[in-house]
This record gives sequence, C-alpha cells and structure tokens, in this order.
Amino acid sequence: MFCASVAALLLSLQAAPDMTPAGEQPVAPYAHANANADGVPFRDDHMWRAFHGAIGVARVIDGMIDRSLTDPRISDIFKGQDITRLRRTLREQFCYLLGGGCTYTGRTMQEAHRNMGIQSADLAALVEHLQAAMQTEHIAFTAQNRLLAKLAPMKRDVVKQK
Ligand code: HEM
Repeated sequence: MFCASVAALLLSLQAAPDMTPAGEQPVAPYAHANANADGVPFRDDHMWRAFHGAIGVARVIDGMIDRSLTDPRISDIFKGQDITRLRRTLREQFCYLLGGGCTYTGRTMQEAHRNMGIQSADLAALVEHLQAAMQTEHIAFTAQNRLLAKLAPMKRDVVKQK
C-alpha cells in the first residue's frame, strides 16, 4: 500500500515537467532549454532592477499584449492562440534575458512563430506597444533601448521571409 503510494508519487513527479500548466492548452512536445529564449542574458541584475523586477516585467508584458489584442493591425494574429501561455512564457523570457534568473520553458522564436506569416510591419506594431508599455512603467530610456537591441536579432526568426 505504502509502496504503491510512493510509486504513484514518484511517477507524478516524473511527469511534472511535461504537464500543461493550469489554464493553458497543451502544446506538442519540445526540448526545454534556456537557449530557446534566443538571446544571451545581461551579465548581472541591473537591467532586471531597471525593469522593476517581476512586477514591472509582468506589467510591461501585459501592457504590450493587451495593446496588441486590441490593435486592428495585428489583433487577428492572436485570435485562437493561448494568451495565458504567451503571458507566462514572455515573462520567463524577459526575466531570463534581463538577468532576473528565471528559467525559460517556452519554444524557440522560430518554432513559436512558424506558419504565422508575421511581416515586418506586424513586428513594428508589436514593438510600438512594447515601447508604450515600457513608458507607462517609467522604464529609463537607456534600459528600454538595451532590451530592444537584445530583441532585434530575433526578427529573422519571427518575421516570415518572403
Ligand atoms: C522579438 C519579438 C518577439 C518575441 C521576443 C516574441 C516572443 C514570443 C514567445 C516567448 C512566445 C511563446 C513561445 C511558446 O509558446 O513556447 C511567442 C508566441 C507567440 N507570438 Fe511572439 N514574439 C515576438 C514577436 C511577435 C510578433 C511580431 C507577433 C505578432 C504580431 C507575435 C505573436 C505571437 C503569437 C500569436 C504567439 C502564440 C503562438 C502559439 O501559442 O502557438 N510575436 N512569442
């Protein structure tokens, strides 16, 4: 009896990394790695602090996503997608890149945006919303620009090549 309970517990712990977080839809299996964040983190936590830590980053992500969802230029791209997962994985990615010490558990930028047909103008609109969200959070301009520079090389994986 005891052994069976322990075995069940061990099995459930083993299964935990692949479990779908509450409120999210399952995704096809993929290898989890911080390298999927597609960027090298800032060396220490000064950028993390410049973004006001976890609460500030969550507000910036929410501000960017909420603006994108109501922007007629790009809102269709988000229709039917798992926005709960998007908020979580983006928070992880930004935290990881900003030196906040998080683990990124999402897919690579290429994998996540495959077949979406995203164009340069769509990326420009999203960046506009990110900038507005950073302004609302009163992030210093130098810190804003350093994050934007970190994200810039991802364009080749996000934007569909014609
Ligand atoms: C440098 C720019 C971008 C970054 C850093 C980024 C980051 C991410 C991340 C971390 C995910 C989640 C990965 C996962 O679910 O495993 C994701 C998914 C997604 N992104 Fe982006 N993204 C960028 C540009 C864009 C643009 C320009 C759009 C559209 C205008 C967009 C729309 C989406 C959508 C709809 C999903 C959900 C995909 C799904 O659930 O299958 N992204 N992005």
